[in-house]
Amino acid sequence: MADVERAARRRLPRFAYDFVAGGTGDDLGVRRNRAALDGVELVPRYGDLPPVDSSVTLFGRKYAHPFGISPAGLDGLAWPDATRLLAGTAAGAGLPYITGTLASASVEEVARRCPGRTWFQLYGFPAERHRVTFDLVRRAADAGAEALVVAVDAPVRSKRPRDLRHGLVVPFRPSLPMALQVATSPAWSLAALRCRMPVFANVGRYVGPSATLDEVAGFVQGEMRGGFTWAEIADLRQAWPRALVVKGLLHPADAERAVEAGADGVLVSNHGGRQSDAAPPAVDVLPAIARAVGTDATVLFDSGVRSGLDIARVMALGADAAFCGRAFLLGLAAAGSRGGAHVAALLAGELRTALGQCGAADPEGLRELDIRHEGAWELWKGTR
Ligand SMILES: Cc1cc2nc3c(=O)[nH]c(=O)nc-3n(C[C@H](O)[C@H](O)[C@H](O)COP(=O)(O)O)c2cc1C
Repeated sequence: MADVERAARRRLPRFAYDFVAGGTGDDLGVRRNRAALDGVELVPRYGDLPPVDSSVTLFGRKYAHPFGISPAGLDGLAWPDATRLLAGTAAGAGLPYITGTLASASVEEVARRCPGRTWFQLYGFPAERHRVTFDLVRRAADAGAEALVVAVDAPVRSKRPRDLRHGLVVPFRPSLPMALQVATSPAWSLAALRCRMPVFANVGRYVGPSATLDEVAGFVQGEMRGGFTWAEIADLRQAWPRALVVKGLLHPADAERAVEAGADGVLVSNHGGRQSDAAPPAVDVLPAIARAVGTDATVLFDSGVRSGLDIARVMALGADAAFCGRAFLLGLAAAGSRGGAHVAALLAGELRTALGQCGAADPEGLRELDIRHEGAWELWKGTR
């Protein structure tokens, strides 16, 4: 992955690379996620040579590997047409793909390209008693999405200094330095010329049939909220027929509340370090959350995962599956349409190696290992 990241950095205009790779504030969260995962030690056990099987069943459906692709808004900046390409990656590799409210292709199109493996991440549009929110939910259900992933961890917009310095703001007005970066990134520029401009494909129809990119971006800026109340989540539960996941949790008491509100799964995440520089690394709260929800909900994880070994680490700490955001986006940036499959193969191969090296027959076997995890937070039930 380090080589993939280097190649991505070379091929992307600087503002696009910074948008994808950066975090909020001083990038402390990004660095802490990495350091915390690196600090998790698994003691291998030897003597048996079990078959290594890393397939996983999530919400009644079997996937080839216990990892998937996290949602990303404005993913077309990482690589033009990213949403469609990642839908193809997920379909080809047998992975779940959480396509986002702010993705560059619609949930209907993603579900067509990636049948049976599409999950939909929801942000809220509170106006008119959530008319747009519930329409998005209906569309995701009609398209056949397997799970609704309700994101709660962006209740306010976070400050991303890298984007501000580049002038990557709405309305989008490319500055001279940005134009120069585009001109000196031929692979990205050619790909951008070949496909449609990045758009918020799920949202445009609520603004008008001939809405410009700026008008849609203005609508998102003004009307969208990246958080829900527990009462709203309970209402979404009523409206959604299949698995419901709450994404962005860092406290076991919140995970319990999500389950009480009807969630079938919780996605432990600090948004890849993009929301609060003081948030703990997601991996450090994972064991407490896994303990709190027990067998009441599926535990999913993202934030900082860059290797198959990281996937093994978080599964050993209680996750049923891991998701990756930047790993796949940077894969596209590094290798275009082949990049997603390359990253999926890298992760799958490394995970097989990690399982074999730990003496675990399957991901379940990881839970039996002795683990040193010094950064783990001790957060109990009822600390709210
Ligand atoms: C460029 C970018 C855009 C993102 N946009 C969204 C989004 O629209 N909705 C969301 O729930 N999470 C979003 N995220 C967070 C990811 O879903 C995920 O939580 C995070 O990337 C995981 O960390 P990782 O990148 O270290 O794997 C975004 C992340 C990135 C890098």
